[in-house]
Amino acid sequence: MAPTAAPTRAVDPIPRVAGLPLLGSTPAFLRDARGLVLRAQAQHGDAFELRVLGQPVTVLLSPQATKEVYVDRASTFSSERGWSFTIGPLFARGLMLRDFEDHHLHRRVMQHAFRRAALAGYMTRVNALAREHVARAVAGAGPDGVDVYDMAKRLTLDIAAQVFVGVRLGAQADLVNDAFVAMMRASVAPVRREVPGTAFARGMAARRRLRAFLADLVAERRAAPEGEDLLSRLAHATTDEGRALDVDEVVDHMVFLLLAAHDTTTATLTVMLWHLAQEPAWQDRIAGELATLDGGDVTIDTYKQLVAAELVMKEALRLSPPVPFSPRGVVRDCEVAGVPLRAGQMITLASLALHRHPDWWAEPDRFDPLRFAADRAEDRAHSHLYVPFGGGAHICLGNHLAELMTKAVIAAVLAEHRVRARPGQRMEMAAVPIPKPRGGLRLVVA
Ligand code: HEM
Repeated sequence: MAPTAAPTRAVDPIPRVAGLPLLGSTPAFLRDARGLVLRAQAQHGDAFELRVLGQPVTVLLSPQATKEVYVDRASTFSSERGWSFTIGPLFARGLMLRDFEDHHLHRRVMQHAFRRAALAGYMTRVNALAREHVARAVAGAGPDGVDVYDMAKRLTLDIAAQVFVGVRLGAQADLVNDAFVAMMRASVAPVRREVPGTAFARGMAARRRLRAFLADLVAERRAAPEGEDLLSRLAHATTDEGRALDVDEVVDHMVFLLLAAHDTTTATLTVMLWHLAQEPAWQDRIAGELATLDGGDVTIDTYKQLVAAELVMKEALRLSPPVPFSPRGVVRDCEVAGVPLRAGQMITLASLALHRHPDWWAEPDRFDPLRFAADRAEDRAHSHLYVPFGGGAHICLGNHLAELMTKAVIAAVLAEHRVRARPGQRMEMAAVPIPKPRGGLRLVVA
């Protein structure tokens, strides 16, 4: 007699995490997203469904699932559908909110602003701004030290205004900064409709102001030869057939780039400085490498020499990935790493838990930059175990620039100072939407 066929995984239902009536797991998610996901993983394994922000989402945690979704050989996973859920109307038509052919075309055009020559041009101003901000923060430090989160945030906003948009300090830079802050607040606001008086309505109004301002600048930049700021690079970029983007398209890309570049870099710097504050030996190692830089600037030619800074950056990005989830909408029925998925379903990858997967990392919660050194290379155990910049077609377009900017700021801090925490000091990080220390982070910088 033929054996009865055992049920295949394809018909197994995905386990559901029990949550509160109506709210599901939203409160737990906002309070401690990593804890929620890791507890669910301990109970259910590498695939389970959570109900968050009013929507069921299947969380996929294995490196293999991460690979299949990012590589997306059959164009099955929509980044636009995944991300619209949170940043939707505020950052509409940004690169991450485009899919497949359309995404490919826009990404090729945008690459012009991320080529080596372009990155080299941005760095002169980035280094100068980093030094200015660090000097100002140290000079104005109170008895508890410098709020390094606040310092990093102001600095990255200035980089956004001056290096990306190409406006100098003053009213124009304030307009960019204020609009951007209002949009960021709106992107995590619970009310998602333009009800007057809400953060969301203020964010959408700010988007309109920022778009109008940027549209005028695009016209100006196009009328002049290509300049060194990112907006000018984008304004002059063309498709393979020589077509320039419409003004509206350039503006939408720029608005999204401000989002992509800003809080991510701020979070990386904050986490690095926190861990460095407990590890004076790593500070000395980084300072030793900085001393070999000719002229002190971090440039496109020198940044790869800063090996110790790179190891610390990698470890900070592992422990607190600035983009902790990569959501996708499933376009058609399929299976990922043995998990059946239906068209229309919302899924998410979750680097915040993958980067601490207990089966793959040694002492996952411990700060240990040497796990990335060539002789250990824990991250190489699977091609998609360590994905702070994502993977596949949507892999971060600004990853080299992020590394350059981060190293420039760390250099500005450690060339002349050392950071330390106060005895018994702790840092509590909110992991979503982007890591942020609850109550800021004050460190002694001396
Ligand atoms: C440490 C800092 C940063 C981290 C950790 C980071 C991480 C990421 C991740 C994980 C994605 C992919 C998300 C997904 O597929 O769901 C992404 C996309 C993107 N990032 Fe970054 N990012 C950083 C800084 C930057 C900077 C500085 C820029 C530009 C100036 C930038 C521009 C972009 C763009 C344009 C995309 C969309 C790419 C696409 O859809 O093709 N990022 N980033």
